[in-house]
Amino acid sequence: MTGRLAGKVAMVTGAGRGIGLEYARRFVEEGASVVVADLNESNGKEAASSLGDTDTACFVAVDVSSPESVETAAQAAVDAFGGIDILVNNAALYGDWELTNQSYEYLKTVFDVNLHGVWLMSRAVAPHMVERGGGRIVNQSSGAAYNYRGAMGTPEEFPGLGSYSYSQTKRGVIGLTKYMAGQLGAWNITVNAIAPGVIDTEATRKTVPSAVMPMLAAQQAIPGVLHPADLTGAAVFFASDEARFVTGQVLVIDGGKYMPA
Ligand SMILES: NC(=O)c1ccc[n+]([C@@H]2O[C@H](COP(=O)([O-])OP(=O)(O)OC[C@H]3O[C@@H](n4cnc5c(N)ncnc54)[C@H](O)[C@@H]3O)[C@@H](O)[C@H]2O)c1
Repeated sequence: MTGRLAGKVAMVTGAGRGIGLEYARRFVEEGASVVVADLNESNGKEAASSLGDTDTACFVAVDVSSPESVETAAQAAVDAFGGIDILVNNAALYGDWELTNQSYEYLKTVFDVNLHGVWLMSRAVAPHMVERGGGRIVNQSSGAAYNYRGAMGTPEEFPGLGSYSYSQTKRGVIGLTKYMAGQLGAWNITVNAIAPGVIDTEATRKTVPSAVMPMLAAQQAIPGVLHPADLTGAAVFFASDEARFVTGQVLVIDGGKYMPA
């Protein structure tokens, strides 16, 4: 087996489509076996079979916002491939996110999936990584975490303080990444995050009007439209042996729109 992730087992949440599927595809190219973990069963099964035979990829159903479901899914991944070395917490309410729902109840739902789901899934997987002597966790944040004005889903007029649900959770993922890195380092588990700008996925095409895409691209130091494949090199690096002392870091991949210190 060759590749930078040869012999590793990677679990990628939300890999039924979009960016998660692209991470999974690249991980397979780099020699990993991949567990496609998604809430959407038909997408997840189709994605897993598109990645190769059952020695290479399998589908595991998961709702990352459910404490029971994440435990069952982590065990199913271990049963399928013997352990877990890499976890990518990519699942989120993005394409399926209700853009205009400003209710407190919905804010809590978005937090349960996008932020608490990262913690729940990591809590379920970390003991399996400890059994392997270490591991890699890569969390998916977003450039939305850095956009304090005009954040996605905010009301145009002022009816009161709105819910910035998506952006709030993606900012939370950055903080959680650092806390988890601090706690899990003693067990050789690294935790890093990727914060993509606007990426051309099916979900984005639903959420961001096509006329807005060129305007967003023009705000970048390097103009142009980003695709899921533009993110995979960073995920492979964070997941690889080469990054064994890289932890608690956030890599913004957005063509130079946001350049946080
Ligand atoms: N596309 C972008 O422009 C962009 C930019 C920055 C960050 N992101 C982030 O990247 C990730 C993927 O984005 P995408 O464009 O592929 O979005 P997407 O909506 O196409 O993919 C999300 C996936 O997560 C799954 N999912 C949703 N809720 C789940 C749950 N409770 N449990 C398990 N799986 C669940 C969905 O079924 C879907 O397969 C998300 O975390 C998103 O917030 C996307």
